[in-house]
Amino acid sequence: MSHRDRRIAALAALAGFLFPTTAHAVTTVGGGVLAGISFHHRPSFALTIQAYVTEGWDRRSFQAGCYSSPRAAVGPIGAVSFVKGGPRLIAAVIGGGDVSGVSEFGAPSLLAGGEVGAVWGAGGEPGVGLHLGAHAGLSVLTAAARVEAFEEASVSAGLWYAPPYGQHYGCAVPGRPLRDSEGRRVESVCADEWSRRAQDEASSVLAFLDLAQALLEQDAPAELIDRALRSAEDEIAHALLCRAEGGAGPTLPLFAPRARLPRREALVRIATESFHDGWINEGLAAREALVRSRVAGGSARRALAIIARDEARHARLGRAVAQWAIERGGRIDA
Ligand SMILES: [Fe+2]
Ligand SMILES: [Fe+2]
Repeated sequence: MSHRDRRIAALAALAGFLFPTTAHAVTTVGGGVLAGISFHHRPSFALTIQAYVTEGWDRRSFQAGCYSSPRAAVGPIGAVSFVKGGPRLIAAVIGGGDVSGVSEFGAPSLLAGGEVGAVWGAGGEPGVGLHLGAHAGLSVLTAAARVEAFEEASVSAGLWYAPPYGQHYGCAVPGRPLRDSEGRRVESVCADEWSRRAQDEASSVLAFLDLAQALLEQDAPAELIDRALRSAEDEIAHALLCRAEGGAGPTLPLFAPRARLPRREALVRIATESFHDGWINEGLAAREALVRSRVAGGSARRALAIIARDEARHARLGRAVAQWAIERGGRIDA
């Protein structure tokens, strides 16, 4: 193992240590109102009011970026159904999760879950029985099917206030942006914005480690490999700067270089990505950070100035790597 291989491994370990996937418990207090039909001898209108407290795990993951990933939760629920013949009182456990598998901001959560517990008054008769239920939901909309004491069934639909599980939290900047006297947006750079930036910066660490690994495999000049590794170090520093400005801690998966390609294909990939992701994208990122640094103040201004300076250097590295790869037989694909 060369010292550059060891440096890649060390930086990967450092990034994994600094930006781990985290999880924390989330308590949800909410309720719902559902209207439907209850079937016992003959169909009757049913109105159900419910309240619950659930506990779940909110897991921030690399794929989810700065958004909450799907989570499952479980907890007690109490409900009363008003049906002809008298109310049905329900005490149960509700549980479920997000089954949509997406966590993009704005994407509705597809929820599914169930409940099991006891019912009193099923069929309009006094007495305790088993309560079973299943529900599906789309964000705050919910539909449920329930069986009470194996003698009365119901289907209903309604609204949840604070769904009991599977919520997402977005990172959109809340509200309308403030502008200064000259009409420029005042870049207060809210915590959520720094969170997004921190995540992007941390993700770049892995991109540079992957580039360094690919260059190593293709016997690229040591100078280019070292510049890629130095860039990975820059990106760690950028992520820490963004976190220090109030951003949530970014999360990263364990670094695993992509599968090795035949030389010609590897050179095309290196050239193409170094052109688009390095030269163009990092050049734009440098420009954007520079512009933002001019309207930011205090430590934010310094952080953005550092990022702008480093991103410009990364853009130059992208150009140099693309040129080297093209000279060796690669090309830039669209
Ligand atoms: Fe960066
Ligand atoms: Fe960069």
